[in-house]
Amino acid sequence: GKSGYDHYMLKEIYEQPQAVRQATRGRVSELDGSIELSAVPESIRREAERVQFVGCGTSYYAMSYAASLFRERGIPAAAFVASEYETERVPITEDTIVIGVTQSGETADTLSALRDANGAGATTLAVTNVVGSSAARECDAAVYIRAGPEISVAATKSFASQLATLSMIASVLADGIERPFLEAIRDLPAQIQRVLDHSNAREVAEEMVDSDAYFFVGRQYQHPVALEGALKMKEITYEHAEGFPAGELKHGPLALVTERTPVVALLTGTDAVVEKTLGNVKEVEARGAPVVAVTDDPDGVDHVADHVLEVPDTHRYLEPVLTNVQLQLLAYWTANLLDRPIDKPRNLAKSVTVE
Ligand code: F6R
Repeated sequence: GKSGYDHYMLKEIYEQPQAVRQATRGRVSELDGSIELSAVPESIRREAERVQFVGCGTSYYAMSYAASLFRERGIPAAAFVASEYETERVPITEDTIVIGVTQSGETADTLSALRDANGAGATTLAVTNVVGSSAARECDAAVYIRAGPEISVAATKSFASQLATLSMIASVLADGIERPFLEAIRDLPAQIQRVLDHSNAREVAEEMVDSDAYFFVGRQYQHPVALEGALKMKEITYEHAEGFPAGELKHGPLALVTERTPVVALLTGTDAVVEKTLGNVKEVEARGAPVVAVTDDPDGVDHVADHVLEVPDTHRYLEPVLTNVQLQLLAYWTANLLDRPIDKPRNLAKSVTVE
């Protein structure tokens, strides 16, 4: 049941501390500062020359985050929308690792891309929530994200578990694991709980609910979170929402910005990333758009933000998990105010088994 929550989606948002704890349980060793993912075969560890991710929707955003993280950690990696993978004719060699990210393990587009990859001789790894799913069976190996069952059509806790699991896989494949990251992933469930306990997303949703459209912007690791925030918003509210890399605003989308289009800006990351994003935010502020800043430094954004959604400090690699919780709540409360059928949005299915 919904355990007292009005919707499965809200219940699953609140289950994220537990989901992430499960994802890391027995895998992070604080004693010797290592991460153990025995499901990642030795062959993959040796050959992590080049990684291609395939997946759809929210899983695609999780793996876009992972591809950036892999690259920062010295592993060439790229993310592909599964339904475009075959026609894009991405070169595959025997040294290529193809990682299929699929919560359900049954998404037809992702399975088809994984079959192509297997056919071309790649080593394949499934990152999935469902033990024994088609993706797990199709691949050479599987790593489970252990999010537990997700009933709401809109993916929430599975995304958090994907981010946590993929960040651990990056650490396994890259050389040298830094203790600050290990400590941060250990503390992540408590940090998520802090966001859940203190979020003012409901009040912000009340302020914004009558808008024409909702824009989400972020850079680097927050770029996929901006896209995910917009996807969640459109799925469950039926309102127009778009996510952009913050630097792209001025190359077109800025034409849509008015005082009736709130811009949700994800303002975490390195100082340089935050500075540049703030520069982009000033451009929308000058057009009168209400600015919602998602930040770990409210004082630093005071001059541009109309509303602040605060997140606690964490390791840079894990900030997306926390900022995304605020965006989930923002979408949820907006949909709630609009009285939408949150758990079962029109036209959508939990598991998409056609190409
Ligand atoms: C969005 C959502 C979808 C799925 C996509 C892939 O909330 O749930 O975008 O992420 O259909 O599903 P999986 O991960 O099962 O392959």
